[in-house]
Amino acid sequence: MEYAQVIDLVRQTKDIILNEEIDKAVRLKGKADFVTAIDVAVSNFLKEKLLRISPSIQFFSEEETGVLTDSCWILDPIDGTTNLVFGYRMSSVSLGLYQNGKILFGVVYNPYTDECFTAERGKGAFLGAKRLQVSKRRIEESLIEFGAGSTHKENTDYNFEIAKDIFRCCIDVRRICSSALDLCFVADGRIDGYFEKVLKPWDIAAGSLILEEAGGKITDYAGDPVQFAHATSVIVSNGVVHDFLRETIEKHSMKK
Ligand code: IPD
Ligand code: CA
Ligand code: CA
Repeated sequence: MEYAQVIDLVRQTKDIILNEEIDKAVRLKGKADFVTAIDVAVSNFLKEKLLRISPSIQFFSEEETGVLTDSCWILDPIDGTTNLVFGYRMSSVSLGLYQNGKILFGVVYNPYTDECFTAERGKGAFLGAKRLQVSKRRIEESLIEFGAGSTHKENTDYNFEIAKDIFRCCIDVRRICSSALDLCFVADGRIDGYFEKVLKPWDIAAGSLILEEAGGKITDYAGDPVQFAHATSVIVSNGVVHDFLRETIEKHSMKK
């Protein structure tokens, strides 16, 4: 299988996502948890095409019932569905190739900007032809992104208290609300760190490899490597601000 072929397939989802004819009516999976016909159409499109070019690799998507296996594609067909529903134009398609506990290949595509972030394990991360490299900024020079998970309102105070502390020490904070793009933006040095308490494997599979191949660091809130078999917390950084983020989060976790 050629990764270039896979990247091409992911880019083809632009026609589905930007198709004004497809009804963006939402179905609520849970409180503030949206799914649209576009999420399902992108998932079905990639499932059919990927199974054709790589029949032995299983398919694990947010919009399918299935389990993570030792060799599978991990797909978030639309990461940033709330943004899509509101016309905020900041969403991505995130596809990672998972094998025996590791992500070997990842692609994150933003159809609105046509930016396509890619990485192959050991071969660097790229935005088109440009090689990605994380920033070297210190916390006082940094922009930090945080996710608050609209389906986890029970963590509101905890999340925003951490963000308040960090906001006081950095230049500013951001909320992009597509975790796959958050990881890629750290990889590209546009922002310097990102944290979120609850993410799923499809939110981070592709982006984690892109980040690491750009020299960045990803751990859970305890500082341990992230696992793809279950939901996880994440701290993502350029390496320089990692300890600051982890210590600030730890301080608030002890108060809980
Ligand atoms: C969500 C986005 C968001 C993050 C949420 C995720 P979805 O994914 O990545 O940035 O804060 O935790 O669930 O639902 O748009 O695929
Ligand atoms: Ca997601
Ligand atoms: Ca999604």
